[in-house]
Amino acid sequence: MARITAGVGTSHVPLIGRAIDTKATDTDYWKPVFEGYEFTKKWIAEEQPDVIFLVYNDHASAFSLEMVPTFAIGCAEEFQPADEGFGRRPVPTVKGAPDLAWHVAQSVIQQDFDLTIINQMDVDHGLTVPLSLIFGEPDAWPCRIIPFAVNVVVYPPPSGRRCYNLGKAIANAVESFDEDLNVQIWGTGGMSHQIQGPRSGLINKDWDTAFLNRLSDNAEDLADIPHIEYVRETGSEGIEMVMWLIMRGALNTQVKELHRHYHIPASNTAVGHIVLENQF
Ligand code: DHB
Ligand code: FE
Repeated sequence: MARITAGVGTSHVPLIGRAIDTKATDTDYWKPVFEGYEFTKKWIAEEQPDVIFLVYNDHASAFSLEMVPTFAIGCAEEFQPADEGFGRRPVPTVKGAPDLAWHVAQSVIQQDFDLTIINQMDVDHGLTVPLSLIFGEPDAWPCRIIPFAVNVVVYPPPSGRRCYNLGKAIANAVESFDEDLNVQIWGTGGMSHQIQGPRSGLINKDWDTAFLNRLSDNAEDLADIPHIEYVRETGSEGIEMVMWLIMRGALNTQVKELHRHYHIPASNTAVGHIVLENQF
């Protein structure tokens, strides 16, 4: 059977992709951001996941305002990096896992969550920057990836509770797939940041730290945080953190925190990163 062995949370700042693509990772500004991923690079080389179920949000790259699915699962054989205005990032094509993706779609929809099925989609920095942070610059990504896009861009985004419960449904789905696969689930975005309006530049380290603490120990409570608290405390883009709750909901109650990294600033955000090993 397929098993979810670990969860990874990480920010997905576009400028991080730019720093990698322009070989600027060693500068005084960027070095401390990238150092926090060294543990994870070594760890994942040993873990060798077969598939990453990668929860992220599209930033109006694949979906325009004409169509905005709340939850969308990528069932295609492959996905190209999106052109976000400066050409496609020079990163490998993302190879999908259609058999598992279709199985998850069927199972999760029948557990009463509506998913949009995507057979063609370009993937933006929300997906490619986490891959670059954790796998570096390989010729091909070392495993297959199921892109899972969540609407946190256009009001109304889904609640934290719904995301957390969706994570549980995804875990049920993966664990009923009849192939021996090592599956990881990643949640991307955050942490606190606001990139628009009068509070642009807002960062809330205390709130972010409490969120990371509770993610390991007290995740059930995190699911009750209302939207208004994300907006007030973490800025308009902090709502991206509900995607970490899908990741956490897909893990067991008991997890082991293997690694944590938190650094301010990267572009307009606090960069946060956590690695949680599933305990059985
Ligand atoms: C920034 C961060 C994001 O998560 C994002 O999607 C876009 C921009 C930023 O810090 O500039
Ligand atoms: Fe984002």
